[in-house]
Amino acid sequence: MVVLAVAVFVTLSSCAVGCSGNMNSTELKLRSVKNQPAAFFKDMTRPQCEQTTLQQQDALTQVNMESLKQKRDAGTNLFYYGTSAEEEYEQPFSEEDTRRRSDPCFHYTVLDQAWRATNTSTKLTMCDRRYKWKGWYRLFFKGQSIQMPERCVPVNKCSTHAPLWLAGRHPRIRDGIVTRQVCGHWKKKCCAFRSTPIKVKKCRGNYYVYQFTKPSSCDLAYCADINTLVCGRCRRNQSCVSRDKINWRCKTRKVPSRKVHFFASYPGQLTGKVNRIKYSKVLVNVGRAYSRSTGTFRAPVKGIYQFFFSTQTANTNKKTDLWLVVNSYWVAVSHTAFSRPSSVGSLSTYMTFLRKGSRVYVTHNCGKSWANAASMTITFGGSLLVQMK
Ligand SMILES: *[C@@H]1O[C@H](CO)[C@@H](O)[C@H](O)[C@H]1NC(C)=O
Ligand SMILES: *[C@@H]1O[C@H](CO)[C@@H](O)[C@H](O)[C@H]1NC(C)=O
Repeated sequence: MVVLAVAVFVTLSSCAVGCSGNMNSTELKLRSVKNQPAAFFKDMTRPQCEQTTLQQQDALTQVNMESLKQKRDAGTNLFYYGTSAEEEYEQPFSEEDTRRRSDPCFHYTVLDQAWRATNTSTKLTMCDRRYKWKGWYRLFFKGQSIQMPERCVPVNKCSTHAPLWLAGRHPRIRDGIVTRQVCGHWKKKCCAFRSTPIKVKKCRGNYYVYQFTKPSSCDLAYCADINTLVCGRCRRNQSCVSRDKINWRCKTRKVPSRKVHFFASYPGQLTGKVNRIKYSKVLVNVGRAYSRSTGTFRAPVKGIYQFFFSTQTANTNKKTDLWLVVNSYWVAVSHTAFSRPSSVGSLSTYMTFLRKGSRVYVTHNCGKSWANAASMTITFGGSLLVQMK
């Protein structure tokens, strides 16, 4: 069993220094560890500072990014965004810094003791009354942030007899520091022991700090709710998601649907039979399903597709027919026929289910079509509307 109880002044700068290189626990400004019963700390091992503080940094970075984003999203202009970023760099010892110095969110003792987890049954009987509590603490489970249970924990869990849980909700950020009752479950009474109340604060970066105090008797110990741990392992097609960054769960990833769009034109004139129009001027080809060299669209996935094709005919006494060909079937025609000298444009559309690999092209069956490089009169395009399994 790994028991870690190490005091770290967690600020970005002190940790960047304290954790790098040859790590020595004295460099970490140990405090609160003196005067502890030897038995309590006999399992103490080298702190995993790098892991913890890196995580801390991540959390802070994330928060900074998010708050900046929120400012932007709230319609504040980019000037403000730029200014606040500048201030952060140019005035390292700002009011913010002073505030941080007295904020327990930045000054807490890391309590990374796996035995506190709510899924641990008693083998050790820990009693937090033996511990001389001082200041603020943040709970970890093997380096990952965790919080106290808000629900009654079965007896003999958390490596103690009467597990201590928070009888009240964790505060929100705007609540600041709150006082909460702590209960110890024993003999079918969830609050058999009304322990000394503690203070709790929510910190930016979605973690809590607790001002633990000596519980009222033995064996009582503060619990860490294993359900609040960031999910450890998810299946390959799942990812670890959280709405509040506290309660995490594995969720099956949605297959990102493919994007398929193309639009191409033929920049010249067509007369009579042209088996397959090679629309050579390709303006859009998202998903690369249209081939300029063959003039054929090939469905990359199964789904519903929509196509359109157009032409312009002029001054002919004949009919002009263009057909959309799907998997060798002629499915839609663009037909024009008129006798007087005139000019007319024609656009046809078609929507269909296609299986993967289906081929679609346009054939010029008869007549005369007109276009030049700029006219966009002989065109062919389409989109995947819905991908299907
Ligand atoms: C408690 O849960 C953690 C995280 O899921 C797991 O790593 C650990 O093995 C569990 N402990 C017990 C005793 O079941
Ligand atoms: C996730 O992947 C597994 C195999 O890796 C598969 O059996 C399962 O059906 C997938 N689940 C979903 C929802 O796609």
